[in-house]
Amino acid sequence: MTAVLGTDPASIARAADCLRHGGLVAFPTETVYGLGVHAMDVAAVQRLFAAKGRPAHDPLIVHVSSLEQAALLTTGMPPEASALANAFWPGPLTMVLPRHGAVPREVTAGLDTVAVRVPAHPVARALLDAAGIPVAAPSANLFSRPSPTTAAHVLEDLGGRIDMVIDGGPTSVGVESTVLDLTSTPPRVLRPGGVPVERLRALLPHLELFGASVAAGEAALSPGLLSQHYSPRTPMALYSGAPDAARQAIVKRIHEATAQGHTVGVLATREQAAALGRLPVLVVDLGSEQDADAVARRLYAAIRDLDAANLDLILTQQVAHTGGLWQAIADRLTRAATERVAVP
Ligand code: TXA
Ligand code: MG
Repeated sequence: MTAVLGTDPASIARAADCLRHGGLVAFPTETVYGLGVHAMDVAAVQRLFAAKGRPAHDPLIVHVSSLEQAALLTTGMPPEASALANAFWPGPLTMVLPRHGAVPREVTAGLDTVAVRVPAHPVARALLDAAGIPVAAPSANLFSRPSPTTAAHVLEDLGGRIDMVIDGGPTSVGVESTVLDLTSTPPRVLRPGGVPVERLRALLPHLELFGASVAAGEAALSPGLLSQHYSPRTPMALYSGAPDAARQAIVKRIHEATAQGHTVGVLATREQAAALGRLPVLVVDLGSEQDADAVARRLYAAIRDLDAANLDLILTQQVAHTGGLWQAIADRLTRAATERVAVP
């Protein structure tokens, strides 16, 4: 049984105690729900990998409550790290740093680096403070499924497989943290996320962006770069290219698929949905393209909603914008898709 806890101090104390004793506790962060374990407890870390069905070669992010605690996990804070921490911690930035020997190899999947983040969510902060230990936490979903943005999503994937989940309501950012590798020269973004790359560039002018979708074989560097990730169980086709042409291709596909008796759903921004017009299919609204924050917040829940409708096919169109949070949104759509159609 997985206990569902509230966010009152007694519940936080109980969850912190569970973590200290090697338990698996899902908790809200500002990005997505994480599945926490005591980062220094190898047996607990192994249970976490088993509960998620996560391959052992995919390293975990260690969550701590301050830059000082982060410093205990690394052999060397590069000079940029404290400026970055000042600007973006607590918050949705993960820094990859040289691993201290005290951090178990099971946490870092054998890498000589460790990923560290100070989350901003008040419940995550209270839990870290109460536990007083570094907490390794991947997103609290089954491996390759969309990340959870509510406690219900966590239970959908991991109910019965973990000790407890703290229900802190829906998360506010909705996409995962930006993963920034400070061990490479120049530093590079391994995963776009909650902190837009432009904001990092203000402090790191030479910043590079690692290819958003690499083939699975090249993923050893950061297994989160696995091109197929965050996916619904239903096949999902992503159309990119000139917006009008992509939209026409989607309409054509809808008619073809429904003529064959297939059930189809569409994942669309409000503007995309308006341009598609009335269609004989389920359309799930991602929110307005005027509001990247809202679209990011809604993205994974919308994918899960469509998945729950048990359709034969989900169709979606790549977002037209590229700056700010749109980069993370476009990245997640690309990775969630099981079929990618580039319309000329
Ligand atoms: O927002 C987030 O980052 C959430 C919340 C719970 O903090 N966590 C999260 O964890 O998304 P996860 O495990 O789903 O994704 C962590 C990503 C993966 O892409 C992993 O490969 C990468 O971080 N990563 C972890 N340690 C790394 C390391 N030492 N070097 C390179 N990449 C690393
Ligand atoms: Mg994940």
